[in-house]
Amino acid sequence: MSRYFDVIIIGAGAAGLMAAASAGQRGRRVLLIDHAVKLAEKIRISGGGRCNFTNLNVRPECYLSANPHYVRSALAQYSQHDFIALVERYGIAYHEKTLGQLFCDESSQQIIDMLDAECRTGNVERVMGVIVDEVGRSDRFILKTSLGELASESLVVATGGLSIPQIGATPFGYRLAEQFGQTVTELAPALVPLTFHVEDAERFAPLAGIALDVEARAGKAKFRENALFTHKGVSGPAILQVSSYWQAGEALTLDLLPGVNLDAELAEREGSEQKLANTMAELGWPKRFAEVWLAGQGLDIRVRELSAKRSRQLVEAVARWSLLPNGTQGYKKAEVTRGGIDTKQLDSKTMMSKSVPGLFFVGEVVDVTGWLGGYNFQWAWSSGYVAGQHC
Ligand code: FDA
Repeated sequence: MSRYFDVIIIGAGAAGLMAAASAGQRGRRVLLIDHAVKLAEKIRISGGGRCNFTNLNVRPECYLSANPHYVRSALAQYSQHDFIALVERYGIAYHEKTLGQLFCDESSQQIIDMLDAECRTGNVERVMGVIVDEVGRSDRFILKTSLGELASESLVVATGGLSIPQIGATPFGYRLAEQFGQTVTELAPALVPLTFHVEDAERFAPLAGIALDVEARAGKAKFRENALFTHKGVSGPAILQVSSYWQAGEALTLDLLPGVNLDAELAEREGSEQKLANTMAELGWPKRFAEVWLAGQGLDIRVRELSAKRSRQLVEAVARWSLLPNGTQGYKKAEVTRGGIDTKQLDSKTMMSKSVPGLFFVGEVVDVTGWLGGYNFQWAWSSGYVAGQHC
């Protein structure tokens, strides 16, 4: 005999908790299961322990997907303002850190507790440490699990992406999707530090630990934020952002002095005895970066020694510094997975499979990847809420 539920949700992370609360509060009998013992570990570790839970500037353009329109309906049905209202209803204090990014003042645990309370309001039955061995379907979904056999009218898959396997990420959702005839697009680590070839790593080793304001470009994407040199390559928000757009074999282009008219600044200082490194530091570069980078260009010189030709070359090199990464630091360091269940086969208004009635996919397991800065959680809240309204 199997236990029957209206809805079973696999994965009690951000999207699964939201879907469970949304369905439960509609009066659906919901079971939420997860193989992890601890609840929503990714929320807990997010935002340095303070969870960057959404962004004031969420809009469809901030998401990557083979179908960029897929996110529109869900983001409209449950927006960042809806989630902020929920956070405020629970009296959770928050602040905007930068660029619209909203963080808890105290702890990401508050967001987990809030979602858990919302699930209790919806009488959701939640069980952790459950292993799902098999999923089948006749007139209903049948799950063989460590809890015994379970059955449901609807099945919501909220098992997330592949990043940080050490806290429970698995490819379960992708495999289940394939079992039910859904296509999974190519997967890759995203919002991830990029690595250098050995020669570059050695060349740039003296820059490790230095951060500077840049405009980083990969393909058509460009982001102005900090880049950070590491012992292995480059990281920092600007690099993490473009990493989602970066394709293996492509070079990144960095404008190392965005918003500064270097040509005019050098013209103003023509003939100056000032060391070029000091000039660049005056214009905003960290001193050590200026010294190492200019030495690498053979420009450990004074401004007056800069010929017109070298000056033009410098302006060009600063505006379009090209770096050729040889890879990424992989899922161990990636915040999210790019790619996922093909949105062409899902209904954007409900999150349900077009070919398997009752089967829903939400959150990161879907081919939707948000920018850095609260966009991925907003996708989890929006897609989870919408599935909860229709499952
Ligand atoms: P999520 O990963 O949250 O949940 C999936 C759940 O499924 C997990 O509980 C897992 O245990 C469970 N599961 C997996 N396989 C299973 C199986 N076989 N059986 C049963 N259960 C299974 N985003 C953001 O917007 N702001 C931020 O501040 C951050 N910060 C951040 C920091 C770090 C270090 C990382 C790695 C990621 C972020 N993110 C983020 C990204 C964000 O955490 C992520 O996009 C969402 O958690 C995705 O929500 P989901 O519910 O889809 O997956």
